[in-house]
Amino acid sequence: MSKEWKVICRVSDIPILGSRVVQRPGKTDVALFRNGEESVFALLDKCPHKGGPLSQGIVFGDKVACPLHNWNIELHSGCALTPDVGCAHRFSVQIDGDLVSLSMTELAAAELA
Ligand code: FES
Repeated sequence: MSKEWKVICRVSDIPILGSRVVQRPGKTDVALFRNGEESVFALLDKCPHKGGPLSQGIVFGDKVACPLHNWNIELHSGCALTPDVGCAHRFSVQIDGDLVSLSMTELAAAELA
């Protein structure tokens, strides 16, 4: 399936062990995360527990700790570590050199569970 990619920012625009919010007017924002291994991940900025803003969480390894109740969410999958259950929707990320792109199709998709 072909996807149109939209350049969002540079990898260096995302703080290491931090995040950057990509706004989606009328829809829940997307959070871009960068971990200590220079990997970039994109998740819906909404914790699967009670909707906390994952972009304000603490990144460690390949996880982010939700700022509200400290659930640990895997950045690869968006899913909570057991014993917690549920997943934040994951978005595809394309890295080209220092440029980070997201799929326009996914960004435009209706509100996701
Ligand atoms: S809302 Fe994220 S842990 Fe509760």
